[in-house]
Amino acid sequence: MATDLLINIDHVATLRNARKETLPDPVHAAAAAEAAGADGIVVHLREDRRHITERDVRLLKEMLRTKFDFELSTDPDVVRICCEVQPDLATLVPERREEVTTEHGLDVTARKERLRDVVAQLREAGIKEVALFVDPVCSEIDAAVETGADCIELHTGDFANASNASERKRCTDDLARAAEHAHAAGLIVHAGHGLDYCNYPAFRAAVPHVREVSIGFAVMARAMLVGMEQAVREMRELVKS
Ligand code: PXP
Repeated sequence: MATDLLINIDHVATLRNARKETLPDPVHAAAAAEAAGADGIVVHLREDRRHITERDVRLLKEMLRTKFDFELSTDPDVVRICCEVQPDLATLVPERREEVTTEHGLDVTARKERLRDVVAQLREAGIKEVALFVDPVCSEIDAAVETGADCIELHTGDFANASNASERKRCTDDLARAAEHAHAAGLIVHAGHGLDYCNYPAFRAAVPHVREVSIGFAVMARAMLVGMEQAVREMRELVKS
């Protein structure tokens, strides 16, 4: 199965906001990523608006020609904005103000009722696909099925951070088992967090059924040196090879 490459552009907004400037504009970054062959664009509208803003999501909705993945928490105000914006995909993620980046998957089992309500709200608003960001644990995937979500995004952060070969093997085994389990349960499988130019081939070789990957930091870091279009093209070559 061909895997789609979705590019997360939050870090462009982080740089813009650091100087309280209007540049670099994530909307321009999205256009460059699309021109280089990205299959879609991902942004996370955080409750604290530390990077992406409401202006960004509304403009992106107008200009994107590829898939638009809107990451969000279950905060009612952000859910309302997501319903208004109508992305192609809404991905629910956990959020903590103190974290530098998303640290783990949702606790789907513990928060099943709330997640089920939000999934229903997003679907009723007309959003066609709703995903839950989950750790690669089969019981969490079973709980995700019960929320009515269409997809899971497997958290690949532990794999990306594995410090030796045996840890990496344990992580790819967990991801492969979770992907098989989700696929068998009828869920579409996405994956992301910490994937980069070095670790992607091992991930791809080990984990089946992955329809989409969401990659941000590695591509943005490379784009600083070689330009957005080349950085996206290089990742696209890996994902499509
Ligand atoms: N998927 C989710 C749910 C995320 O929160 C993030 C980080 O914003 C990513 C994927 C992309 O992770 P990275 O920036 O490490 O590639």
